[in-house]
Amino acid sequence: MKIAPSILSCDFSRLADEIQTVESGGADWIHVDVMDGHFVPNITIGPIITAGARKATDLPLDVHLMIEQPDRYLEAFVDAGADWLTVHAEACTHLHRTVQRIRELGARAGVAINPATPLASLTDVVPYIDLLLVMSVNPGFGGQSYISASTAKVRDARTLLDEMGSTAELEVDGGVDAGNVGELQAAGASVVVAGSAVYGHVDGAAAGVRLIRDALGRKP
Ligand code: DX5
Ligand code: ZN
Repeated sequence: MKIAPSILSCDFSRLADEIQTVESGGADWIHVDVMDGHFVPNITIGPIITAGARKATDLPLDVHLMIEQPDRYLEAFVDAGADWLTVHAEACTHLHRTVQRIRELGARAGVAINPATPLASLTDVVPYIDLLLVMSVNPGFGGQSYISASTAKVRDARTLLDEMGSTAELEVDGGVDAGNVGELQAAGASVVVAGSAVYGHVDGAAAGVRLIRDALGRKP
């Protein structure tokens, strides 16, 4: 199981240090939360900051687009260094075309669904995706509480991917901490995103990553 700290909760005046800190703690990917003030209320990171994050690490950049009309920006984020590029199903009228485009651009294609969006809406697109992201909070802000029904949804997503013969990553994002990663691993998740649990840890972000690794039974 991979750990993807979200830089949303980091100190942006020290972005490179904040990324290197989680890398030293054993992070596997760096999660970049892009918000446009339309799809979600908040505004955060664009391609320029993503390119800055790219320069700070060799870890895969996992870019989560919480934006409307994402097709307009796919190329900019791939150019900025996104290895994984995830769009929201709710924001895409032609989702199949969008994920194909992400792959054409040379990135891995992900699709995210909000807590109120049924998994069944993704069945037809599963063969074309490299990652399925189950949101376990309503997107827009870090530090929200985990929606407990998400664990069953992750289990259902694992069944769906396995039944369809998909090797896509199964990622969970929102309210993840050392207390619930174990049940997410058991439910079949392959990647967890953690923002506040990592960057808000009293002993620093490296300790935050290590705590989650310990909870997963991974070696230090
Ligand atoms: C929510 C974002 C998440 C979130 C994670 O809108 O997509 O990546 O910031 O932060 P925590 O772990 O604090 O919920
Ligand atoms: Zn995210």
